[in-house]
Amino acid sequence: MAKARSVFFCQECGYESSKWMGQCPACHAWNTFVEEAPIKGSGSSQASGGGRRRGSAKEPVRLSGIKADEEVRTGTGIGELDRVLGGGIVRGSLVLVGGDPGIGKSTLLLQMCRNLAEQGVRVLYVSGEESLVQIRMRAERIGIFKNDIYLLCETDLEDIRETVLKYRPQVLIIDSIQTMYCDGVSSGPGSVSQVREATNILMQLAKQEGVSVFIIGHVTKEGVVAGPRVLEHMVDTVLYFEGDRQASYRILRSVKNRFGSTNEIGVFEMKGSGLEQVLNPSEFMLGGRPQDASGSVISCALEGTRPILVEVQALVCRTSFQIPRRTAAGIDYNRVNLLMAVLEKRVGLKLGSCDAYINLAGGMKLNEPSLDMAVAAAVVSSYMNAAMPPDTLVFGEIGLSGEIRSVTQAENRIREAAKLGFKHCLMPASNVERIEDLDGRKRENGLITGSCQGISLSGMSSVRDLCRYISAGAKGSGE
Ligand code: TYD
Ligand code: MG
Repeated sequence: MAKARSVFFCQECGYESSKWMGQCPACHAWNTFVEEAPIKGSGSSQASGGGRRRGSAKEPVRLSGIKADEEVRTGTGIGELDRVLGGGIVRGSLVLVGGDPGIGKSTLLLQMCRNLAEQGVRVLYVSGEESLVQIRMRAERIGIFKNDIYLLCETDLEDIRETVLKYRPQVLIIDSIQTMYCDGVSSGPGSVSQVREATNILMQLAKQEGVSVFIIGHVTKEGVVAGPRVLEHMVDTVLYFEGDRQASYRILRSVKNRFGSTNEIGVFEMKGSGLEQVLNPSEFMLGGRPQDASGSVISCALEGTRPILVEVQALVCRTSFQIPRRTAAGIDYNRVNLLMAVLEKRVGLKLGSCDAYINLAGGMKLNEPSLDMAVAAAVVSSYMNAAMPPDTLVFGEIGLSGEIRSVTQAENRIREAAKLGFKHCLMPASNVERIEDLDGRKRENGLITGSCQGISLSGMSSVRDLCRYISAGAKGSGE
């Protein structure tokens, strides 16, 4: 037999190589290659060589012969979590819950276990991080457990498999994949090959025994689960739990979902007694917003199918440096630079000699082009020192020629703003033209106006319209 050769894995992205390298060719991280011994024996991820049984191949089945209602979903009792999962837990699914340490992953899943147990679902919670007493203490903070759940402190996956086969839980929680290890792999827990092999074993449990498995995974400094690419390919659903540890609210985001739509989010707030759902995130995000302050603009972004109102803040002031300072928190820095360049070139604002600090209030992170117009409006408002009229919503995409382009689901955004009592909306003219239940459509000063759901709309077609609108407001209030 040939001598067993070791392989090298990039600890950031899981790239595999037969020799050590200083820089990973896949993710360009430096000094991340670690030697790991190949998996011994008939590891499940290894293609077995000879000696395969003949005649064990399965027959293909007809698509029409499969009953779709066999896919049974169990509600978790937490609406926001159900929404992100696509309507509940699918039997035999493998879900990865990633997030920074201390963000509340264990708390969320323990709360889910409690609700499931109340519905009579058999739950097994396996923890490799905390002792039974620590879990008990956490459970006491969360509240009363009417029905018991089973706990297990174990890190050896073979033992976990045995326990699962014996107790036959319907839902299995693995508290942190990074602490699990398999005997067949000689590298330490948390390494790429351990994580990969461990997930493989759990996948077999999920698919063969019909257990729904939730895997908790910690995220590294760079914001990825160790061996993330490997894990994301293997599991059915990837959920990320994000948010500032200082801010009390948390966002659960679905990045991949074989059984539902992605980009759905669930919003939670960390309280003294566990996580609580935030049923109206818009109201939550706008709490404490300043009135009549320049540089503060409310926009509406879509997260999946869900409209969320957010406040974009800008502070523009004369620079005292050679090169102006610019920062962007919560939105793309390059996008901010691009929008400021558009304003400079197309409207003639002297932004080249100004520092600019842009911020999404509440610590949200969004990457949607419909925020463009709000960012531009905030910059202009701060630059001209003119506050936006109160209760005004702004959304629309801005192109390089300074044109304002239409966005999707304009009606949904307007409806969300109407719910919170907004009165005006600045939006792309092309969107206003297409709105069906628009009353009193008019063209004046190049704007298309009308009203919809109690909100008066102003449709704009270029950033010049936007600047004119804001500076007119400034003059109006100054008199
Ligand atoms: P935890 O679920 O342990 O995080 P993770 O498993 O993602 O590492 O959450 C821990 C944090 O949440 C910790 O800082 C304490 C806080 N917390 C509360 O504020 N209230 C609670 O009821 C609980 C259980 C935790
Ligand atoms: Mg934990």
